[in-house]
Amino acid sequence: MGKELVITIDGPAGAGKSTVAKKVAAELGVPYLDSGAIYRAITWYMLRAGIPAEESGVLEAALGSLLLEITKNGISVNGRDVSKEIRMPEIDKNVSPYSALKIVRNSILGIQRAQGKNGVVADGRDMGTVVYPDADLKIFLTADAEERAKRRYEERIAKGETADYGQILEQVRARDEYDMNRETAPLRPAENCVIIDSTQMNADEAASAITQLARSLG
Ligand code: DC
Repeated sequence: MGKELVITIDGPAGAGKSTVAKKVAAELGVPYLDSGAIYRAITWYMLRAGIPAEESGVLEAALGSLLLEITKNGISVNGRDVSKEIRMPEIDKNVSPYSALKIVRNSILGIQRAQGKNGVVADGRDMGTVVYPDADLKIFLTADAEERAKRRYEERIAKGETADYGQILEQVRARDEYDMNRETAPLRPAENCVIIDSTQMNADEAASAITQLARSLG
């Protein structure tokens, strides 16, 4: 079952969307789309090219010439796999201003929708509100900012990186603020979505709640 299902999982940074979405996709046998990775890849490219996060002809031309490819394990830009680089703190810090721009968002609508042709579990900020407004199931996955910062902190430490909890909490809050208050496609629960607060849940519990909802659609 579930071959053609479109399931959207939106929510703030660090709510566990990607871990949960991957589990749901695997369980239901549908592809997974990490829309944040596309914004991160664009940010990676623009930072390297020295193109600032503002609407301009230069940015538009760069977007038009970029070849973004979603691969099985990540994403590539003009043929180069950037899946690792896009997780660096420099991208965390800079991605919100690029992703707030209308020309950036419009430029990737097509690539996102193409991924949903045969069903998809898509995570992001506007999957249910803008990209797949007719999705079969829309989830808004959230958790307290402190819990989300703690998860990010533990992720970094587990990878052997250095991390400062206070700084991460500040960044999580700043990113929420920016993502919720931007003009284009702000982060907010879609109409008819199911809100899941994962503060007290692990990823398996959140994923199984969503899988059960999906199965109950019949
Ligand atoms: O989910 P993430 O942390 O990888 O997303 C990175 C940034 O991209 C996030 O701060 C906001 C932006 N984003 C967005 O604006 N819309 C999406 N659908 C996904 C991500």
